[in-house]
Amino acid sequence: MKKNIKSAILLCLVLIIGSGCTSLTEDSYQVSSPSGNIKVNIKTEKGQLLYNVSSNNEVILADSKLGFEFKGLPSLGDNVKITGTKSNTYNETWEQPWGEKRLIENRYDELVVSVQETGRNKRVFDVVFKVYNDGFGFRYEVPAQEKLDSVVIMDEVTEFKLPTIDKAWWIPAYSETYYESITRFTPVNQMDTVCTPLTIETKAGKYLSIHQANLTDYAAMNIYCADSTTLTCDLTPWSTGEKVFTKTPFVSPWRMVVVADRPGDLITSYLMLNLNDPCKIEDTSWITPGRYIGIWWGMHMELYSWNNGPKHGATTENTMRYIDFAAKHGFSGVLVEGWNTGWENDWTKEGDKFSFTKSYPDFDIEKITKYGNSKGVKLIGHHETGGATKNYEAQMEDGMKLYQRLGMNAVKTGYVGLRLDGKERHSSQYGVRHFQKVIDNGAKYHIMIDNHEPVIPTGLCRTYPNFMTGEGMRGQEYNAWSADGGNKPDHLTIIPFTRGLAGPMDYTPGIFNFENLVKPNTRVQTTISQQLALYVVLYSPLQMAADLPENYEGKPALKFIESVPVNWDVTKVLDSKIGDFIVTVRKDRDSEEWFLGGLCNENGREISCDLSFLDKNITYTADIYRDGDNADYKTNPTSIIIEKKEVKSDEVLKFKLANAGGVAIRFIPK
Ligand code: NOJ
Repeated sequence: MKKNIKSAILLCLVLIIGSGCTSLTEDSYQVSSPSGNIKVNIKTEKGQLLYNVSSNNEVILADSKLGFEFKGLPSLGDNVKITGTKSNTYNETWEQPWGEKRLIENRYDELVVSVQETGRNKRVFDVVFKVYNDGFGFRYEVPAQEKLDSVVIMDEVTEFKLPTIDKAWWIPAYSETYYESITRFTPVNQMDTVCTPLTIETKAGKYLSIHQANLTDYAAMNIYCADSTTLTCDLTPWSTGEKVFTKTPFVSPWRMVVVADRPGDLITSYLMLNLNDPCKIEDTSWITPGRYIGIWWGMHMELYSWNNGPKHGATTENTMRYIDFAAKHGFSGVLVEGWNTGWENDWTKEGDKFSFTKSYPDFDIEKITKYGNSKGVKLIGHHETGGATKNYEAQMEDGMKLYQRLGMNAVKTGYVGLRLDGKERHSSQYGVRHFQKVIDNGAKYHIMIDNHEPVIPTGLCRTYPNFMTGEGMRGQEYNAWSADGGNKPDHLTIIPFTRGLAGPMDYTPGIFNFENLVKPNTRVQTTISQQLALYVVLYSPLQMAADLPENYEGKPALKFIESVPVNWDVTKVLDSKIGDFIVTVRKDRDSEEWFLGGLCNENGREISCDLSFLDKNITYTADIYRDGDNADYKTNPTSIIIEKKEVKSDEVLKFKLANAGGVAIRFIPK
């Protein structure tokens, strides 16, 4: 990345104190988005602080409570009055060092609402609302004060009260692990306690995404439906039941709702990033998005083992073979799992035995990294902790220093273990604190992070762009060993609209060999064209080609993976229906090329791609990778047609996608 984030272009910044807010009555205020479509009202009723939201005069959220419950102290928010407001208008454009879009418009009207208790304690706090044309965010800001010093938050009272019993795509927050669930789609009153992003289809035909931004030193927000329509905050607890230990002054993470007319507009909203702080890393030149392969799928397919032994995958020889393949096909990184000692233990129970500096004897890390560096291929490190964060924290700096000394700049971290250190949830304040330490140390030692088994991402990559990507979804690995047969075909038509809204996903696409010798009933449930389409549809700045090199050699479809960028100028979702299909186009950051990815669920369909996104004055050669006429994810997944066509922006291309099929296109200006 050549550009320092500091050189981000500040096109325009306007700060007008005292505009944008209307006082409706003495204790009721309104703030609207810059175009006036979204309106947020804040008021008190019988002492309870409330807000409601409308979009184009249609109620999006009815009166919803705001406030806190503390341990050993009266709750805050139910006996208050509004003592003042301050409003600001912002309009700036900032540049992402990497991402789905280069220039991000950050344009909103802000209202700071100051609140005070009417009772004896007179405790005070502010709620800050930022209202955008595509949604809104708010957070609590609690200043230092005598009657509120060290506090234990038992929960937020924060509500999102829908006007009707809408349907939502959700996964459970507590009963399943690591966000690796199959998504359910039910009316909100039939939900479990669920994770965010929570994606909702309203009866009025709108799409909402409730999520959180800038989650630091706090617990993740989950949501439960308290009555038929009142979605209520449920912070992940510590093992002892408390939610957040803090001290005034403190701020909560942002609570946010994206409001969209089309599902695709959820994907092209940058509200979450805008609600995070600007970049804190001065020199980002070492942060290098790229494509990678890895000694990885072989372990999941039981061809290799992580631990030392006759099937050890991470040997010097094998890694050098992977480096050769990477160099030949333009991959910048090779991930190696199972290089370090500790895997021989039952690491899911005794994760504390991992070393992050000591290699197995058959893995000569010095020789391998020297070889890789000479070929322009970096080793991507692996720190599986087994959930033992204390053991990791004790070695983290040494582990990262080692990587830095060897010229490496990325690590995949892992936290397989039901509880961190046997006790705490990944999404608890304990987990959030740990994950932040990893990002901070990564920044210190110039290491990019790919966080598996994470807490749900919340846009921290804006502030720390070395936080590249992560898991937090059912990834490709389930297609190697999951007892339920693998990810169902609709999975990939849903996660772009759910987990994908939280940031880059290390799904690890690109499987070309659909045979599973160890578990024949479990397999990748897509066609090969859909595997290619995933490189456009699912965003990750570190993007894997997950299959074995031997499964790629000689396959013409590899050419698409070799050519597809990981850093984009612009992203558009041409058409989509959550759970059915999606067609995404993205323009390369470093050239005039465009790429298209389209995919569908188990019901094949015809899609129309209106090429009006292309430059009107240019003729393009389209390299098309589409399903063969008899392609089918069950019976003939590898059937693919690769063809070239000259196209212009006034054309509409139609494709017949196979069952769980796809299409991937590279548009090269002539
Ligand atoms: C689970 C991760 O998702 C996977 O990618 C990794 O290979 C294993 N843990 C071992 O760390």
